[in-house]
Amino acid sequence: MNETSDRDVLERLAAPELRGNPYPLLRWLRENEPVHRTEAGFFLISRHADVQWALSRTGDALVVPDREEMARQFPAAGDHAAIGTALEIFGAMLRPGYAALRRMMSRDLARSRVARVGESILVKGAQLIDGMAERLHDGEAVDFHQEVSRPLTLAVFAELFGIDEVERDCVATDVLATACALEAVSTEALEAADAASERVESYFRLLIADRRRSPRDDLMTALVAAHDEDVDRRGDRLILGLLWVLWLTGFDSSAAGLDRGMQAILDHPDQLHWLRGDDQQAAAFVEEVLRYDSVILLTPIPRIAARDIEFGDRMLPAGAMARMVIAAANRDPSVFPDPDRFDPSRDNRPTLSMGYGPYYCNGAALVRAEMSIVLTMIHDRFPDLVAAGEPVWTEAIGTANGIRGLDRFPIRMGGTR
Ligand code: HEM
Repeated sequence: MNETSDRDVLERLAAPELRGNPYPLLRWLRENEPVHRTEAGFFLISRHADVQWALSRTGDALVVPDREEMARQFPAAGDHAAIGTALEIFGAMLRPGYAALRRMMSRDLARSRVARVGESILVKGAQLIDGMAERLHDGEAVDFHQEVSRPLTLAVFAELFGIDEVERDCVATDVLATACALEAVSTEALEAADAASERVESYFRLLIADRRRSPRDDLMTALVAAHDEDVDRRGDRLILGLLWVLWLTGFDSSAAGLDRGMQAILDHPDQLHWLRGDDQQAAAFVEEVLRYDSVILLTPIPRIAARDIEFGDRMLPAGAMARMVIAAANRDPSVFPDPDRFDPSRDNRPTLSMGYGPYYCNGAALVRAEMSIVLTMIHDRFPDLVAAGEPVWTEAIGTANGIRGLDRFPIRMGGTR
């Protein structure tokens, strides 16, 4: 690969041959252009120290763009409901009540809810794995993404919000179509995204109204209750904004996390003893999966430089929009020695996979539980899985919600059975 090519970095990241392995390009970026201006006009920050600093200083040195700033960045918003939705989300994120809602949600997710959902992950995981067992034993290929990662993470996510089986697929598909709008993959995608975002918004409104009328034991009810007790009551924009953020960042990324775990199982058979040990060893395996092949390419929340910022000898000018390249920072050799080696025994405390600072991921505990439980279970049931073809990456490259995800992931049993 010619890293000095004239093509824009984002365009090169979208190239099919780099979707699975963007790391040579990201290394070039980190070493040569650690503060890189893309043709789209925003900057990519890729060294670990710079990314960590920028994430921790969000709120003073860098700020999350407000609704007006986003409207400047996306002038098509007036014509497109999907882009307008994104603007509303940023508007909501900056209102004071949003932080209170997030705090409540973090407490809820970190404690009792994840413990209770853990039981569902076990039951649903076993059910999905049973569903493909016969075909695997018969030597057939199965699609791990469509048959396990997606349905499992969607079921768990839908349970949090009390969304039933009939509705959950439609909501998930529509949310992802809306995310594509910001990448403007195509005019057709943008038009489809408009309709999709309107359907999701109406559905979220129905859910909110329903939980007000008939509270249940789910995160959705807890959010509505917290909103109505503590937060300003100017309509439901805040809670709608949070629901959008949760669905845009939470469900697809968890499925991608499980897919990365399966890829690690296929690629690193010498490290699988980590999945046959205790909970801490499984957790170390999961942490290394999340570092080694980052689910998040770029931070989903953009930041604007509040002043000129020097990163070493590079400058991010005041007013510039920046995205942090988590996938590059997680392979920075100044923090992770021999970063291209998959090694669950390494010290992964500095990993930035789940963000850092004020916008640290609210779903981190849930994702880690999901990955540990499912990867351990599947390795226990099928210790000799192999790839059954190339995985198929999603069309969106992850510049909108930051996620590098798969559409298909064929696997089968190895030859030893
Ligand atoms: C493997 C799966 C996941 C990864 C890698 C991931 C990663 C991240 C990262 C890097 C951020 C920081 C964004 C930034 O600073 O721009 C973030 C934020 C966030 N994540 Fe996750 N996430 C995952 C799953 C989830 C799940 C399951 C949920 C919900 C249950 C969730 C909810 C959120 C929310 C709400 C935010 C925004 C926080 C805020 O508004 O301050 N994430 N995530």
